[in-house]
Amino acid sequence: FNLQSFHTLACPSVAEFAVEAVDRSTLIQALSWARQQALPIQILGEGSNVVPEAWIPGLTIINRLAGLKCTAQDSHYVSLKVASGVSWHWLVLFTSAQGWYGLENLALIPGTVGAAPVQNIGAYGVEFRDVFSELTAVHVLTGELRTFGASACRFGYRESVFKQEEAGQWCILDVTLRLARQFKPTLTYGPLAMLQPVSSRELIDTVVRVRQEKLPDPKVIPNAGSFFTNPLVDVNTARRLKETWPDLPVYPQENGHSVKLAAGWLIEQAGLKGQYDSITGIGAYEKQALVLINPQCASGQAVLAQAQLIADVVEDRFGVHLTPEPRMFP
Ligand code: FAD
Ligand code: EPU
Repeated sequence: FNLQSFHTLACPSVAEFAVEAVDRSTLIQALSWARQQALPIQILGEGSNVVPEAWIPGLTIINRLAGLKCTAQDSHYVSLKVASGVSWHWLVLFTSAQGWYGLENLALIPGTVGAAPVQNIGAYGVEFRDVFSELTAVHVLTGELRTFGASACRFGYRESVFKQEEAGQWCILDVTLRLARQFKPTLTYGPLAMLQPVSSRELIDTVVRVRQEKLPDPKVIPNAGSFFTNPLVDVNTARRLKETWPDLPVYPQENGHSVKLAAGWLIEQAGLKGQYDSITGIGAYEKQALVLINPQCASGQAVLAQAQLIADVVEDRFGVHLTPEPRMFP
């Protein structure tokens, strides 16, 4: 099964077996079939945060579970249970149109609702965990169904239990969000700060515009969004770096001990922005250095090799280690 058009980096990739699961019973049956055959199992959403291998052994389940329902409401909040295969950006537009608020800053993030908790998606001052109530997941090996609340998910910056201890163990089936009936915008991020006061729809449109100015559309130029997370360093390291590079953007964290640095700035200052490999074309995008583009649809291995070169240059120059954000697949 050719997976090249099922992920946004467009690397050549073939799955031994694949199924597009449009309903829960198909998905559960596919899981039990793969277990009987002792095949490895992978879950794929829209493939916007994966670096696939050329050959994916076992069963790849392409999640297309659809539907949503309101499970509780009062005069302040609405609880919405959403199937994990629903498009995230569609949900942002739909909820805003209903008068259910909180997702605006997360507009235009590609991918499925079920992948949102995996790395606790975030943008422009809002994170997925800010609207999260609970999720249901099935264990891919035992078939156990479990409900995860916020603390069980162990959300962090681009982190959750589904990326760490329990990586690859669970298939998220649905996600319940708690959205507000009153629109209280988060406008802390630079270009949004000038907006006050705005409507939900205006905020979405602004986020979409800001994103389209910098981020390449994966349908036109293959990419997986930010290729590295923004590194967290201790306050002393940040102070030392700031002495040498006073323009370095730093974001002190709430714990008071660590500081987040802008990886895009580090890559740009290392002279790598808009520098593309002469053979594969892979490199740090000219409008946003944190995004690696793969314009000639080179292999996942080639993408990783170029990413490693970039990380090595940054480490040599600044002594800061960069960690990839997308998941290796499998
Ligand atoms: P996939 O790429 O298909 O999967 C990602 C990982 O999650 C894989 O390990 C997969 O096995 C696992 N997974 C997927 N679905 C499930 C499930 N149902 N159950 C269990 N595991 C599952 N991210 C941000 O946080 N903020 C951004 O601003 C942002 N901008 C982006 C911009 C662009 C142009 C692109 C291409 C990506 C961007 N991303 C961003 C990354 C990406 O959109 C998110 O990580 C998104 O949540 C991935 O969804 P997906 O369905 O494509 O997941
Ligand atoms: N910067 C540069 N050069 C660049 C890119 C960025 O100097 O080429 C500087 C900017 O000037 C700014 C700082 O770096 O001072 C931060 O840049 P930006 O606001 O564009 O965001 P980012 O840190 O590069 C993060 C997320 C994005 C998210 C945006 C908006 C990570 C790894 N990335 O990017 O998420 O959309 O903030 O909130 O945290 C993703 O995860 O895939 C993703 C796109």
